[in-house]
Amino acid sequence: MWRKILGYSYNLISLAGILLAIAGVSLMVIFMAIGIIAGLENPYLGILIYFVFPGLLVLGLLLIPLGILRTRKKMLREGITEVPLYPILDLNVRKQRIKAIFFIFATLFFLLLLALASIKGYDYTESTEFCGELCHTVMEPEYTAWSNSPHARVRCAECHIGPGAEWFVKAKLSGLKQVYRVLTNSYPTPIETPIPNLRPARDTCEGCHWPAKFYSGKAKSFFHYASDEQNTPREVNLLLNLGKAPKTPHASGIHWHISSEVFYLARDAKRQDIPYIAVKGKDGTITEYHDTDKPLSRKEINEKAPRLMDCIDCHNRPTHIYHAPGKEMDESFVSGTIDASLPYIRKVAIELLSQEYKTTAEASSSIAAGIRDYYAKTYPALSKTKAPAIEQAVTEVQKIYQKNYFPKMKVAWNTHADNIGHFYFPGCFRCHDGKHRSSDGKVISKDCNLCHEVLGQKQENIKPGTKVTGFIHPIDIGDALETTGCYECHQPAEM
Ligand code: HEC
Ligand code: HEC
Ligand code: HEC
Ligand code: HEC
Ligand code: HEC
Ligand code: HEC
Repeated sequence: MWRKILGYSYNLISLAGILLAIAGVSLMVIFMAIGIIAGLENPYLGILIYFVFPGLLVLGLLLIPLGILRTRKKMLREGITEVPLYPILDLNVRKQRIKAIFFIFATLFFLLLLALASIKGYDYTESTEFCGELCHTVMEPEYTAWSNSPHARVRCAECHIGPGAEWFVKAKLSGLKQVYRVLTNSYPTPIETPIPNLRPARDTCEGCHWPAKFYSGKAKSFFHYASDEQNTPREVNLLLNLGKAPKTPHASGIHWHISSEVFYLARDAKRQDIPYIAVKGKDGTITEYHDTDKPLSRKEINEKAPRLMDCIDCHNRPTHIYHAPGKEMDESFVSGTIDASLPYIRKVAIELLSQEYKTTAEASSSIAAGIRDYYAKTYPALSKTKAPAIEQAVTEVQKIYQKNYFPKMKVAWNTHADNIGHFYFPGCFRCHDGKHRSSDGKVISKDCNLCHEVLGQKQENIKPGTKVTGFIHPIDIGDALETTGCYECHQPAEM
């Protein structure tokens, strides 16, 4: 009976094809239903539903005609001559009519299903599950930092691909290479930055933040605690001069750089060492600034293509933000997740966090042992009365490690410099170090009030109620405050 219904497709290859196609469709439907009913968002489920099962279906559909062709060839070889290449269709015969209608509908159904799978599959390759979770180990640092950042609701693709067909193609091609590298375990650790084909640019950021909206200042408080017995609190309140008169061609302030054209050359790929800057004025005149300590020669300047400064030259860590252990501790005190009355807890935690560990598990157990031992030995009475606070501190410090150190990928909080300020990394001082000069004597200013005003400061060496007009350093460092980059002393993790 089957031979009659199936006709020429009654052969092993076509039968296998039919089975594969049916299996592909059923699995797709079943797994989709499971996903919807159970509310699962597992990245592997996506791979199965959108790639593996539709793949089975397509393979099956290809096998069916292949089997038919082979059968026909075999019949021809066996001397059966009346084997037409195409089925002879007579729509006046009822059976054949039903067959044809069935064939058309089945084809439409499969095509629809495949279209659906490819649309959903495409969406899926742009989803954060795909980018962040599937390549779990590889993307762990970026994914973790992203999920704790102000952009945790912005999908990876919105910054890394953005609008435009050209970027889309570039990103998918480079994505293929990355999938290959993950499968063959040949990816670099850490993932280098910047990635040329995944690089966010002005138009991606400006899809959500447009420069006409940058005005006035932004008041920001910086909380610090000393690494002493009392974990003494300190506070600096700054008014960041983001931009004045932003809607005019004469916009000034921090976002001036994007209302003008600032070009520069860097010696290193990470763009930390900037010996040459050229500013194009509104009238087309060019002002060149050279690093007076170690300038580039004219030949070197002419050889390289300069980079036009954009958002990423300052905001290179808008979402993959890693924090120094000191900064994390300060934030934990502010939010109350770590009890600031535990003596020396800041110092102890920072020392433990700054050590080298081979795995996250090793770090967690060393941190727990380190904190418990310290209080048991140094403050035995307190280690009993404050036991819950100490245990809470253990958990929080372990979390700080997990958010900022990824031994498998060789990423730590200071692997990628953050260019937004100048405290731990050169940042703005890459150009604004007072050493970049033009031939007519103009200097890219390091004046503390160019970028921010001190609104107030609380510190042991400032009497409460005193009006502070300029930043006062907590310990007297003389003129090093002006002559030395802050990051040169604040480099070690101890601060
Ligand atoms: C708000 C925009 C934004 C979002 C959202 C975003 N990224 Fe990034 N990403 C960046 C920027 C900016 C860089 C640094 C580019 C540079 O320096 O050239 C970067 C760099 C990277 C790097 C290179 C390594 C590094 O840390 O510099 C990887 C890998 C990466 N992102 C993966 C992801 C993944 C995975 C997601 C989603 C979970 C994601 N990104 C979401 C903006 C974003
Ligand atoms: C899809 C929209 C979207 C894109 C694209 C986007 N952002 Fe954002 N950005 C946001 C949202 C939403 C916030 C959070 C606003 C808030 O918390 O008030 C934010 C916040 C910020 C902040 C303030 C962070 C803070 O600490 O408060 C900065 C800076 C920023 N984005 C820079 C960038 C840069 C640079 C890019 C390009 C690499 C970018 N954004 C791309 C939506 C976006
Ligand atoms: C010269 C460096 C620089 C450039 C270039 C730059 N920014 Fe900023 N931007 C800053 C600084 C500094 C701040 C304040 C930092 C902070 O909030 O901690 C800031 C703040 C912001 C904020 C937060 C504003 C708020 O009110 O909280 C957004 C959004 C932002 N920038 C977006 C962008 C976008 C988009 C671009 C590119 C078109 C860009 N920036 C280019 C330095 C820069
Ligand atoms: C690639 C070099 C470079 C970097 C990095 C850089 N700047 Fe600038 N900045 C310049 C140049 C050049 C000028 C213009 C100097 C002049 O003409 O007087 C300038 C001018 C300024 C001005 C004055 C703008 C005005 O006219 O009102 C501010 C404010 C400023 N920068 C803030 C920052 C901040 C904040 C950062 C770090 C987040 C930063 N800059 C990083 C090159 C740079
Ligand atoms: C070219 C611009 C620029 C100049 C010049 C500059 N700063 Fe800053 N400074 C910044 C920016 C931008 C931030 C904010 C960084 C952030 O939001 O994380 C900052 C932050 C700070 C902070 C708070 C840092 C923290 O993490 O607690 C202090 C203190 C400070 N600056 C002091 C100074 C002093 C003192 C000088 C003069 C020697 C100076 N700044 C010169 C741009 C500048
Ligand atoms: C010569 C080295 C040196 C230079 C340069 C330096 N600092 Fe410091 N700074 C220190 C030391 C040491 C401490 C720790 C003081 C303490 O806790 O007793 C400190 C502490 C601080 C603190 C208190 C935060 C904390 O973690 O205790 C701030 C804020 C600070 N410095 C800002 C700056 C800024 C801004 C600059 C650059 C304009 C700068 N420092 C330059 C050595 C330096």
